[in-house]
Amino acid sequence: GPATAQLVASRVLDVPDFPKPGVVFKDLMPLFADGAVFREVIDGIVEHHGRESFDVVVGIEARGFVVAAAIAYATGVGVVPVRKAGKLPRAAYAASYALEYGEATLEVHQDAFTAGHRVLVVDDVLATGGTAQATLDLVERAGGTVAGFSVLLELSFLNGRERLDPRPVHALLTV
Ligand code: PRP
Ligand code: HPA
Repeated sequence: GPATAQLVASRVLDVPDFPKPGVVFKDLMPLFADGAVFREVIDGIVEHHGRESFDVVVGIEARGFVVAAAIAYATGVGVVPVRKAGKLPRAAYAASYALEYGEATLEVHQDAFTAGHRVLVVDDVLATGGTAQATLDLVERAGGTVAGFSVLLELSFLNGRERLDPRPVHALLTV
């Protein structure tokens, strides 16, 4: 709710010209570093979806891993990583997506999910939505059912939510 959004807002730092000139990078490290706020944020995501609504949680490399592991531990489910290309040791599905310049590829192990397992996907930030779209496609290709998608922070001016339509997007804070 509004209190959680306010907490997130209070722990985001704007970093001008990172990773390149003209970009204002939203840094969530202060939020991760504050134990009480981090817990509140994790609990907020779990409460939004309901702890019985998912069987496993997917975290997107790298900052999504922090969020996913905490949700998994808090709810007793397991965590599955979606990784940048070339990092997973066994047979994987790959999905490429456009970056501002060029392309990137994400991968998931082919045997990551039990058929029909309900998968909660989490990341720190939704920007253009390319990362999220690739991840949601990978989850389905690997036999999972997407139960929900949450981020701590949505950058609405980059229209990621439109790109993911009609999939529901839950953001604790939208700017
Ligand atoms: C950032 C962020 C999201 C993604 C959002 O990760 O953590 O995963 O970009 O951008 P998009 O919506 O435009 O796709 P990044 O690719 O910087 O990787 P990192 O977490 O490994 O630094
Ligand atoms: N902050 C964190 N992650 C991001 C951002 C940002 O501003 N833009 C794209 N991914």
